[in-house]
Amino acid sequence: MGSYKIKKMETVLVTGGAGFIGSNVVKLLLERKYKVKVLDNLSTGYLKNIENFDIEFIEGDIRDKSVVKQALNGVTKVFHLAAHIGNVKSLEFPFQDLEINATGTLTLLEAMKESRVEVLVYSSSAAIYGELKTEIVDETHPIEPESYYGVSKLAAEKYILAFSKLYGIKTVALRYFNVYGINQRYDSYGNVIPIFHQRVKEKKPLTIFGDGEQTRDFVNVIDVARANILAAENAKQSGFYNVGCGGKISINYLAQLLKEKVDFPLEIVYAPARKGEVIHCSADISKLQTDLGFEPSVAFEEGLRDYFEWFLKQ
Ligand SMILES: NC(=O)c1ccc[n+]([C@@H]2O[C@H](COP(=O)([O-])OP(=O)(O)OC[C@H]3O[C@@H](n4cnc5c(N)ncnc54)[C@H](O)[C@@H]3O)[C@@H](O)[C@H]2O)c1
Repeated sequence: MGSYKIKKMETVLVTGGAGFIGSNVVKLLLERKYKVKVLDNLSTGYLKNIENFDIEFIEGDIRDKSVVKQALNGVTKVFHLAAHIGNVKSLEFPFQDLEINATGTLTLLEAMKESRVEVLVYSSSAAIYGELKTEIVDETHPIEPESYYGVSKLAAEKYILAFSKLYGIKTVALRYFNVYGINQRYDSYGNVIPIFHQRVKEKKPLTIFGDGEQTRDFVNVIDVARANILAAENAKQSGFYNVGCGGKISINYLAQLLKEKVDFPLEIVYAPARKGEVIHCSADISKLQTDLGFEPSVAFEEGLRDYFEWFLKQ
């Protein structure tokens, strides 16, 4: 993945490293021969995700400055993924959302002032754009979040970029679109891929809202992990980037792929379209490609096959 030379025993910190995306970032960092520390309070992450890795695990909260300071000891790069996640959940727990996403990020930044950290890569979200006004979304799209989650993720993004100007530590925000892949578990707030897989596991019909021709830019977590490492190693300056595949996968196509995989007649049920649901959404990733040398490497069919096999074993 490029020619970046890892300094001898370079130590990095992954906040939220026991989570879905974080654990995939940890795996790739270890393959790149970094020494990895993980700070996670295990609220939505699982030790199981990282139990086979040779890492230092610190169980603690991103809002606890003394734990964060301890975690930053000797660290030169930080991957900040710990967060309170989801639009719906943020409306149910608005203050928790604000405290973890905004105050938690600020706590990390304040602790970084007295550290050796050179670069911070922050997991932002396409939720900061709010209602999409164009089918293809580049980084100049209006930023008008429509959930508290979008607001708190944006606040954190603004904090890291201001911090960079104030204190000269490089920060990069990666705005993920629809991430899927191994270690993504089903929960009631989950997105369509884990929800459909759970239905398949229970041999229940898949419900599609609308005509199913709506499309999404599904990006495999392996590529998201690669984007994190490219940002940490290649970014010449602070900035923000969309992370997606630039692809358009329809919900009907996703359902069809699942239908082909199962050995029972999987029923597909159509329900009325949900109010306000975006019809087409895909990320313009040209900035990420030009500045950081990113290219998506996992085809959707291949990523879905691996996820299907993993999910059914859980
Ligand atoms: N999954 C997606 O499609 C998606 C899309 C856009 C952005 N993101 C961002 O990516 C990041 C990772 O998301 P994920 O999907 O892997 O979710 P996840 O819930 O699997 O991971 C989040 C991790 O953070 C930990 N955590 C939560 N609160 C914490 C706290 N107060 N202190 C310490 N650790 C804490 C959790 O235990 C968990 O391990 C988040 O910042 C999220 O906003 C995800």
